[in-house]
Amino acid sequence: MAIELAPLPLPPTADASKFRDFGREVKGVDPGNLSPADFGQIEELLYKHDALLFRNADLSPEQQYALTKAFDPASESYGHGNNKTESTKKSILHPDLKTIPRVPQVQLIGNGIVYDHEGLAEAKLKHPSHHTFHKTQVSPEDEAAGATRFYRWHIDAALYKLAPPKVTTLYGITVPQGAPQVCRYDDGTGDELPVPLGTTAFVSGRTMFDILPPELKSLAVRARVRYAPHPYVWMAPASALSTGLGIETEDKELALSDLPEWSEEDVKVFPVLWKNPVTGELHFQVHPAGAQELLVDPLPAGASREGALFPDGAHLKDLKEVRGLLYKMQRPAIAPSLVYPHDWREKDLVLFHNRGVLHSVVGAFKPDQVRAFHQCNLAASSDPVGPSAEDVAKWA
Ligand SMILES: [Fe+2]
Repeated sequence: MAIELAPLPLPPTADASKFRDFGREVKGVDPGNLSPADFGQIEELLYKHDALLFRNADLSPEQQYALTKAFDPASESYGHGNNKTESTKKSILHPDLKTIPRVPQVQLIGNGIVYDHEGLAEAKLKHPSHHTFHKTQVSPEDEAAGATRFYRWHIDAALYKLAPPKVTTLYGITVPQGAPQVCRYDDGTGDELPVPLGTTAFVSGRTMFDILPPELKSLAVRARVRYAPHPYVWMAPASALSTGLGIETEDKELALSDLPEWSEEDVKVFPVLWKNPVTGELHFQVHPAGAQELLVDPLPAGASREGALFPDGAHLKDLKEVRGLLYKMQRPAIAPSLVYPHDWREKDLVLFHNRGVLHSVVGAFKPDQVRAFHQCNLAASSDPVGPSAEDVAKWA
């Protein structure tokens, strides 16, 4: 059977004109047993469409690992490494990850208590909640009435020492049914988004760049982000914005001298824009919570200086300024009309281009709402590629 494609089921809130290229459901192939030729097609489709959905997939942890690794055969270990640093109690990622013993690159995530699961006698899972991460909270009354938040917009990446995974695979095994919720932005805009319970929300990094005005496109194409060493430990004492898109600047981050041992050569400096290996388009890929500094190149020779930001370049180290600029560039792309909230069904397999989208956990489960997902991503064999000289000449 040949590979067939169908559009993803967009919610009525989505601006369909902005999702023409985003996301496809793939039918007619078994994602756990792809021939090399089929995999070649799937790989190309992933980079063209950024998210692929397979319904009714049967996928063992071994098959999920093999499928994920096929996108980067030289990759080997989980995207956050061996979890030694990330599993220190100080890291904000600590409670969210349980490893499948047989296939340590595959993580069990979800909510509630899962018994006798792939070699785990009992796993206590906790769906991450904005209550433990945001500075302000949805009140218990509003939450009971269905209000919720985006937890944290992010890229799956250690952002220190390891290269960001190319693809993440998410496989829904147990999916609790429950009333839809309303995701509130609570940032004074009045924005809100009706969402299925426990959705994973996606936005396109390509749209994030595409909708920027020229002066911010010029800034983005010239800018690089320096991430904090051990960013998830560094940010642990800090609190997030109500949109989940970055951190409040309150000087709560750990001092660099209080972090686990780190070295300058392992600190990550990534371009703001990452070049799609198939389409050549630019995706705005910044993990705002981990960003510490911005380095801006001067305008290239011949570019117009009129209205340009930092025409002579800059090295911004003030956290408030760095975060403010990133927020200004990223917030437009998480508008309700630009978010794809996936409505999970059991046996859904979603592959997403981790170097082309941002995503967020959303919502809150009750303790008895049991959910079990398998997640896999692998630290890539190389770092993402930024804009070419032609891109800079075009957009600066
Ligand atoms: Fe993630």
